[in-house]
Amino acid sequence: MASEGKNYKVADIGLADQGRMKIEWAESRMPVLMALREEHAKKQSFKGARIAGCLHVTKETAVLVRTLRAAGAEVSWSGCNPLSTNDEVAAFLAADGASVYAWHGQNVEEFYWCIDRTLDFKPTLTLDDGADLIFTVHNRHKELAKTIIGGTEETTTGVHRLRAMAADGKLMYPVFAVNDSETKWDFDNVYGTGQSSLDGILRATSVLVAGKTFVVAGYGHCGRGCAMRAKGLGANVVVTEVKPTAALRATLEGFRVMPMDEAAKIGDIFITATGMKDVLVKHHFESMKDGAIVCNTGHYDCEINLVQLGGIAQAKRTIRPNNEEYMVQGKRIYVLAQGRLVNLAAAEGHPSEVMDMSFANQFNALLALHQKGPGGYPLGVHVLPAELDQQIAMLKLKTQGVGIDTLTAEQIAYATDYSAGT
Ligand code: ADE
Repeated sequence: MASEGKNYKVADIGLADQGRMKIEWAESRMPVLMALREEHAKKQSFKGARIAGCLHVTKETAVLVRTLRAAGAEVSWSGCNPLSTNDEVAAFLAADGASVYAWHGQNVEEFYWCIDRTLDFKPTLTLDDGADLIFTVHNRHKELAKTIIGGTEETTTGVHRLRAMAADGKLMYPVFAVNDSETKWDFDNVYGTGQSSLDGILRATSVLVAGKTFVVAGYGHCGRGCAMRAKGLGANVVVTEVKPTAALRATLEGFRVMPMDEAAKIGDIFITATGMKDVLVKHHFESMKDGAIVCNTGHYDCEINLVQLGGIAQAKRTIRPNNEEYMVQGKRIYVLAQGRLVNLAAAEGHPSEVMDMSFANQFNALLALHQKGPGGYPLGVHVLPAELDQQIAMLKLKTQGVGIDTLTAEQIAYATDYSAGT
């Protein structure tokens, strides 16, 4: 039975106190966002803003929500994945006065019901991770787009889709690609995904990674992070790719690269990180070894074709949380987290320290849109100025007690001097 109030629907509002402890823990590890909170709470920089958010309801997201609210925004939130909501965190946010519509284990109809509820207060800004909220506005609530100043998008897959929409002339308001800030993609996507995906695999299986053949499909930033961390745990890492430069990079970073048709036969653990559908399909499952473990860390759940796996499986049972065994021609294949984001469904997502920078970028992007107001940015997909990346990185370094050098005036002049060569 869910708990419902005037402006929330969560699994159990009684979990709020446990949620509070988790959020306090995250706050102690997110100094950049907390510094933004302190500065903008004083200024009430988001006064008048109504922000609808559709992003994993985790302890880190709660720190962002509380920061936006402290800075004067009204906020209404839903999760961006049916399995990623932390019910304790959702309960605390609701008890704290935010509008929250999210619970773990919802079905697709409930998922979109929650998104619809976050649109009830007619937002001035939208925040997405995977673009489902912005698609909902464009597909079913077009009238709202007229009063939405702009939106933000957290993830690579979402940004690709929004760029395609903009190129087609279909995007109805400007969007900031938060993913494309250096202090997001070069940290969250690599170190965040790497650690949290391995964390999810370990929580769902508790297998020894050392000595296993660990197949990473896709060597973008997320795949690279997974490969790096699996190698660190002693796995023999194999990479599959479709992009020649990415495949080449993987070989120079010490990994074996081969087509999935070959990797499928030798892998013990498979993780998909491609953003593409049908990375693992029927003939791959048929050629896998007995006991193979399969999971996904891409945003959508289409990378592992579970319909095809279900079609060839003689039996299926749940072995332990987030771990289902499929019997295929006498062999066992284990699917983690129903092929959804293993790092968020089976673990807690990226650690707070890395989300600190990602969400500082979210905050800055929303603030830029709010401050410029309606018509302030042209239609299209925008990227935050590079100076903001350096500010975020500098602040992060400071909180880590790390100092760096500064260029002298002569060095700055040298950097732009085109009169002298060798
Ligand atoms: N995406 C990946 N990890 C996350 C986290 N901890 N919180 C919110 N979104 C995430």
